[in-house]
Amino acid sequence: MADKQALHQTYLPKSELFESAHVKTMEQYNEMYKHSIENPEGFWKDIAEKFYFKTPVQGKFLEYNFDVSKGPISISWMQGASTNICYNALDRHVQDGNGEKVAFFWEGNDPADEGKITYSALLKQVCQLANVLKNNGIKKGDRVAIYMPMIVELSIALLACARIGAIHSIVFAGFSAESLAERMQDGEVSALITTDGFWRGTKLVDLKSISDKAIDLCSEKGLQIRTCLVVRHLSPSDEIVETNGNGDQCDGVAKRPCHKLKVKWVEGRDQWWHQVVPAASEECNCEWMDTEDSLFMLYTSGSTGKPKGVLHTVGGYMLYAATTFKYTFDYHNGDIYWCTADVGWITGHTYVCYGPLLNGCTSVIFEGTPFYPDAGRLWQIVDKYQVTKFYTAPTAIRALMKYGDELVKKYDRSSLKVLGTVGEPINPEAWVWYYNVVGDARCSIVDTFWQTETGGHTITSLPGCTPMKPGSASFPFFGIKPSIVDENCKPVEADQEGYLVFSQPWPGIMRTVYGDHQRFETTYFKKFPGYYCTGDGAKMDKDGYIWVTGRIDDMVNVSGHLLSTAEIESALIEHSSVVEAAVVSQPHSIKGESTYCFVTLCQGIEFTEDLVTELKAAVRTKIGAFAQPDMLQNAPGLPKTRSGKIMRRVLRKIARGDRDLGDVSTMADESVVDTLFSLRPSTV
Ligand code: WTA
Repeated sequence: MADKQALHQTYLPKSELFESAHVKTMEQYNEMYKHSIENPEGFWKDIAEKFYFKTPVQGKFLEYNFDVSKGPISISWMQGASTNICYNALDRHVQDGNGEKVAFFWEGNDPADEGKITYSALLKQVCQLANVLKNNGIKKGDRVAIYMPMIVELSIALLACARIGAIHSIVFAGFSAESLAERMQDGEVSALITTDGFWRGTKLVDLKSISDKAIDLCSEKGLQIRTCLVVRHLSPSDEIVETNGNGDQCDGVAKRPCHKLKVKWVEGRDQWWHQVVPAASEECNCEWMDTEDSLFMLYTSGSTGKPKGVLHTVGGYMLYAATTFKYTFDYHNGDIYWCTADVGWITGHTYVCYGPLLNGCTSVIFEGTPFYPDAGRLWQIVDKYQVTKFYTAPTAIRALMKYGDELVKKYDRSSLKVLGTVGEPINPEAWVWYYNVVGDARCSIVDTFWQTETGGHTITSLPGCTPMKPGSASFPFFGIKPSIVDENCKPVEADQEGYLVFSQPWPGIMRTVYGDHQRFETTYFKKFPGYYCTGDGAKMDKDGYIWVTGRIDDMVNVSGHLLSTAEIESALIEHSSVVEAAVVSQPHSIKGESTYCFVTLCQGIEFTEDLVTELKAAVRTKIGAFAQPDMLQNAPGLPKTRSGKIMRRVLRKIARGDRDLGDVSTMADESVVDTLFSLRPSTV
């Protein structure tokens, strides 16, 4: 356990870091920051000059409306200019003579599986895949779903889409068939790129059959997916056998834990990547995109209703991904960078693919988990590739802390310089362990606060200059103008909690919710006219450090994954035994937060272990394994206001076993509270 002082002291960047850093002092940061806020056009224009634009800006460099009362919310950067992000991420480096530089080292789930790809080889394969997509009729503006594990082909897929102007919609490979189908339908995608299957730890995930199910679900709802490209990723010893479309006549047996994996094949729709991609032409001109053309959509949970397709556009996202990567990780040529996030989440989009590639960086892509074959795997990989900049989530740090220091110290780690964290507030205990044990009290820690919607880091320390306070994401990135306000949009005093809002656009901000601009305006701009509302609570201390405290809406952050309580509730209610469900968050020592679900059952139905198992499975099927509830409780009645609104505040207290309920004068029937306390499982 770290002593109290260690948790509350301020840590200064070490001289080895700041001497060579892009931003060496707080004075320099303050100056650059001031310029970025007072003259955003000038600030980003200078940055844009380092990128290739086919045609220059022909309208305003920045035009926006952040105020719903003045008309629709709109944001545009670099009007009329055209570019291509894939060109800037690959061709530019190859033309500069860096084609032989390694773009990605790939480390498989099995420590014996590895590979690497240079910038020029990556470009070649991206062009080939882009041609395959074109041959299948995919063109600019079409949507392509990507549902893959952490393999190099995933990056190739996203870059190939970007090259031809197709909008990629990546769905994390932990989502269920129903979730994949829902996202494909919402985005009206024309094609799906997937993989036969993959190993995660000791578990084999049968991705192709989940994909098949999702395609069938789409077709039931009238969306025909005509192209499904499949990467053969499992080794031949895993014995994937193609079948004739009926899914029978297959008896391949995997080498690893007894498993038979059948790959159903639909002629005309399904195509093996290894059969079509290498055969395609290696030449593929870029589609020159308007800076405000769509680049990708990525779904994020909504506090009500279905997930939102967060839409990012080409030009602004490119500048922001590249610039945040460069400064937050203090990137220099020669760095070996590794972000453990999955490309299925925004962190993987911006900081596994686009950000590093736009900077010409060499990175590691890791398919496996931090615990396989043992909990020293991350540090073994750090040593193997001599990683200098490392980026992971607090939930992983907390989980690894439990295994003790020896598994870390066994490895050298002397290559490390910067350690990043993202996804949720990091508790000072975990921060100090990360700093002292993983970083040997030598590295800077960057605690990066941002969102799918923001495209890149918004509040973060910079490794060469920011004095670090454990648990605080510290100061705004260039171009971000934060305020912390109360319900009436008045700034709160120092150390008071309020809503974290941003008052002017930065290049990487989302432009709309795919197909639902009104939802975009309502979710982010309606509550505080003139501001983008993050939905997070925060405080600012007397030194100006920002401390993000977590979601203010009905969202739960489980292991860094944002889940909507409404979505989990609707999955539970779909079960025939459940009449009503209310889901709240509960603190969890490793996951940060966990979900606690109250379920009201139909008359005569008993709350049994079997039912609990079924209900958990219902959520897994509907959303995905990572959303499985941690705790379910029988709730013959729920605390409600007289107008019938569920009092979640009270349920949160019950989940935590806290009888200090505060004001319950609006509650219709107080007796339900005692019943709920009496039914609270003793294991909580
Ligand atoms: C939370 C992930 C505190 C926050 C990049 C935010 C954080 C949500 C931090 C976005 C951090 C992310 N400190 N909270 N450093 N980073 N969050 O869209 O609640 O998956 O709103 O993007 O994660 O999650 P998302």
